[in-house]
Amino acid sequence: MIINLPTNLERQVTHRYNANSFKLHKLPVPRPGQVLGLVGTNGIGKSTALKILAGKLKPNLGKFNDPPDWQDILKYFRGNELQNYFTKILEDNLKAIIKPQYVDQIPRAVNGIVEALINNKSEKNNKDDMIDVLDLKDVLGRQVKELSGGELQRFAIAVVCIQKADIYMFDEPSSYLDVKQRLNAAKAIRSLLTPDCYVIVVEHDLSVLDYLSDFICVLYGVPSVYGVVTMPFSIREGINIFLDGKVPTENLRFREESLTFKLAETAEDEKEVEKHRRYRYPDMKKTLGKVNISLFK
Ligand SMILES: Nc1ncnc2c1ncn2[C@@H]1O[C@H](COP(=O)(O)OP(=O)(O)O)[C@@H](O)[C@H]1O
Ligand SMILES: [Mg+2]
Repeated sequence: MIINLPTNLERQVTHRYNANSFKLHKLPVPRPGQVLGLVGTNGIGKSTALKILAGKLKPNLGKFNDPPDWQDILKYFRGNELQNYFTKILEDNLKAIIKPQYVDQIPRAVNGIVEALINNKSEKNNKDDMIDVLDLKDVLGRQVKELSGGELQRFAIAVVCIQKADIYMFDEPSSYLDVKQRLNAAKAIRSLLTPDCYVIVVEHDLSVLDYLSDFICVLYGVPSVYGVVTMPFSIREGINIFLDGKVPTENLRFREESLTFKLAETAEDEKEVEKHRRYRYPDMKKTLGKVNISLFK
């Protein structure tokens, strides 16, 4: 059986930043009324794809020296759902907002009290629900520069959710959040769905991705070199493709090994886990104020 390996494609370049720099092949196609999940390793083009789909980065189709104008770009996407999508973006019929990936940079761009900023951005009637589900009540009176990573993340998600838009994008909404907060963030994001709006989420936490998305595109390639977007898959298929490292529809293997999770359920399993473990920790005792923790084998 011959399985194809990813080759550095020449065709279907959507964007190349510069000579010898990263290039993205193809694009995910969002569908109104559904949540599109994007999954792939770091540096593979997920944020780039979001910026293009938001109309914030004009795709140069690989011609970084001589970027095409929108007429040519639309011609390139002729016959593809993206032609219609980009036409609407250009005519300002679709408004996109992105929850940026790096929330730690927000305090550099935004200054003020959380509550005032939220009130200022509020355009729908879901403000109180979002404050509640994203657990922001306690930080409403706080300055943005005083927020922790997780608080910034929840604040950023809330600010996107309370605005009127046609395309909502969330770049890694789970970072800095614990399990319960991740699930609540996913609930907040899903609550935005209407039959006409687009929701696109980049997510590394596979259980959150599973809960959040209606369909998935996987990105594969060589980080920092090139990334290829697959066709859309159902959640189960998409997550399995990402774990297996193989795209069956293209008979293509993009990772040597599949990602598996070893679970120890029996004493036999535990011996097996023991055999594979690479690290060993000594017994430990730790005291912090009045708290004592002892860890023994
Ligand atoms: N403005 C830019 N100019 C040049 N290279 C960039 C630019 N933005 C991102 N890149 C590069 O493109 C690649 C993909 O980045 P990105 O889309 O942010 O990946 P991901 O979100 O999947 O981690 C990375 O190697 C990144 O360094
Ligand atoms: Mg990114």
